This record gives sequence, C-alpha cells and structure tokens, in this order.
Amino acid sequence: MHTPPWVAEILHDAREPMLFLDRNGRVALTNPAAGDRFGEWVRGQSYVSVLRQPSLLGPVEDAFHDRIPGRARFVHADGATETAFDVAILPLSPSDPNERGPVLLTFRDLSDREASLAMRRDFVANVSHELKTPLTALTGFVETLQGPARNDGPARDRFLGMMAQELSRMNRLVADLLSLGRVEAQSRRRPRDPVDLTTLLGKAIELLHPTAQDAGVTLTADLAPEAVVPGDADQLIQVAVNLIENGIKYGARPGTVEIGLHRVDRDPALRTPCWCLTVTDDGPGIAPEHLPRLTERFYRVDGARNRSGGGTGLGLAIVKHIVNRHRGRLRIDSNPGQGTCVTVHLPDG
Ligand SMILES: Nc1ncnc2c1ncn2[C@@H]1O[C@H](COP(=O)(O)OP(=O)(O)OP(=O)(O)O)[C@@H](O)[C@H]1O
Ligand SMILES: [Mg+2]
Repeated sequence: MHTPPWVAEILHDAREPMLFLDRNGRVALTNPAAGDRFGEWVRGQSYVSVLRQPSLLGPVEDAFHDRIPGRARFVHADGATETAFDVAILPLSPSDPNERGPVLLTFRDLSDREASLAMRRDFVANVSHELKTPLTALTGFVETLQGPARNDGPARDRFLGMMAQELSRMNRLVADLLSLGRVEAQSRRRPRDPVDLTTLLGKAIELLHPTAQDAGVTLTADLAPEAVVPGDADQLIQVAVNLIENGIKYGARPGTVEIGLHRVDRDPALRTPCWCLTVTDDGPGIAPEHLPRLTERFYRVDGARNRSGGGTGLGLAIVKHIVNRHRGRLRIDSNPGQGTCVTVHLPDG
C-alpha cells in the first residue's frame, strides 16, 4: 500500500514507538523507536502476530472495522524485563471511503511515567526536608530569644547572627530551585546568542577571586584568546561559577584551581567541533561510587560536612541541565587523593 511521505516523517521524529498498519493489517511502517523496541522483523508482518495480546488485539480490530479510536494496555517482555505501555489506537481515513483505512498505534511507556512520578515525589520530599531543617533551627532561636536570652545582649546578637545564616541558606535554596525550574522549562529550546567563553570565564574568575583568597586557594587560568559558542550567557556563567566554586569549596586548602579552555576539532561523542572547559582542583577527590550520582538533585558526598559549608547539592544538577540545553556534555573525573577535573564540552555551532 502507498503511504504518504508525511506519515514517515511524523513517525521518524516521534520518541515513542509507533506502528503504522496498512488497511490489510500489516505493519507498513515503523519508526526508529519501534525498531529498537520490537525489532525490525515486524515490518510486513500482520499485527496479530506482532502484538498477540487479546487486550490490544480487540481494540485494534474495532479500529479497523468500526473506525473507533481506542486505548489499551500492552506489556512487552524483552528477556527478563517487562515494559508496560499505554497504546493509543488511531484509525485514519481511507483514501477510498468504501475501503478500510490504515491504523496508527502509538506506544507510551508507562514505566517512564511511573519513574517520573516517583522522581517528583522524591523531589518534593527532599525540598520539604531541606526547608524543614533551617525552619526548625529558626523556631528554636526565636523561642530562645523570647525566653532565656530575652535580656542577654551578647546571646541575642549571637542568635540573630545564626538566624541570619539560616535565612541566607533558605534564600540560596529557593534561588537554586527557581533557577533549576527555569532551566528545565527551557530545556528544549537551544540558546543561540553568540557568547565568548573567554570573556565569560574571566568574569567568573574575577567574581570568585575574593572567595578563593579567603580560602587560601589560587585560581589559575589558561584560556584560548577567544571562544565563541551559541549560548545563554547568564546560564553559562552559572556553570563556570558553580564549577570553580566547587573547586574552591571541596579542593585543597591551601590549593590551586586551574581553569582551562581549549578547542577540540571533533568531539567523538558530540561529533562536532567544540570548546572544552576544564576546572581542575588538587583536593581529596571523589570516590568512584559517588561519581554517577553527583548531578542528582540534593546529592552531596558528605551530607553533614557540605551542609554546614552552605551547599544545597543543586549546583551540579543545574550545571548538567544547562549543559544539556546547550547540546554539550559534562564529565567528572576524579581519583581519591588526586583531585577532581570537571570537563564541559560545548559545540561551537
Ligand atoms: N571539586 C570537587 N571535589 C570534591 N567533591 C566535589 C567537587 N565538586 C562537587 N563535589 C561533591 O559533589 C556534591 C554536589 O555538588 P553540587 O555543586 O551539586 O552541590 P553543592 O556544592 O553541595 O551545593 P551548591 O552548588 O548548590 O552550593 C558536593 O556536595 C560535593 O560533595
Ligand atoms: Mg556546588
């Protein structure tokens, strides 16, 4: 059967597996997602032999005979793993009204949805917990100020100082959450403004110079004279500040944080020319079991120590989202005892 070319285009771009059944019930077209999921053998097969499960076959039959759209649950078993799908069954108009029309099946992965719901629940629980800690502390301070410390001037000053610290923690947390939300909302829109990374890194270094000095950390820079990428300057400076700040906070004291920027003619993973930003410290490093989890929200290697240091554990999650939005990639290499090197590759076009 002849299938219009636009059908193939729509199918090709869809992330969900899709099967296009011709009016005889044969799989006429599959998209790459369906090829990955079901295998290429399904092409040309009758849908009955491909799908097999009565819960889905019935509604597909109805779609062919009565042109009724439907939904059905379908479980695909692949070795030891089973994946549940919600299948949308859409009868399409036939070119000749006296004939049966084709039917389009779209498979929505329910395990993805369930995983994302679980992630959302975790996220809300984490945020509540992070806010609860400073709130509990503030409540305690207020009670002390109302009671025992009421007439004790020096104690009052000390408590007010601690309250200010807790409040600034909460402010930082909320600012980071807002920033994460913004980056996530824009994740599909790739930024296009020309941004010179050399100038931008210079600004980040200048901004963090006082913090580094206070911590006894020397910042060194080895930057290409100019490095323009399509990007969002505000977000890229956030990346640079986060990474350099981590180097200062978690690196050696006294120590050195080296900031590098060089060109890569062809990045093997991104398959395009890139600029490569590296931030290297000479601190204690990170044990390998933590590396894959560092970009999770609220993940800290040594929770208690970093919390008192003021980190929210959102920095690298934000960095990762920003780098993804720029179609770049983030890599963290570390050997305990030998420092950490964070690399960001950004395509230059
Ligand atoms: N250069 C580094 N050396 C050692 N550990 C690091 C380094 N960078 C990050 N980490 C670890 O990874 C964790 C996550 O870092 P991330 O930047 O996401 O959060 P944070 O620095 O704790 O908080 P925030 O960046 O929001 O202030 C840190 O808490 C720290 O334990
Ligand atoms: Mg950080």
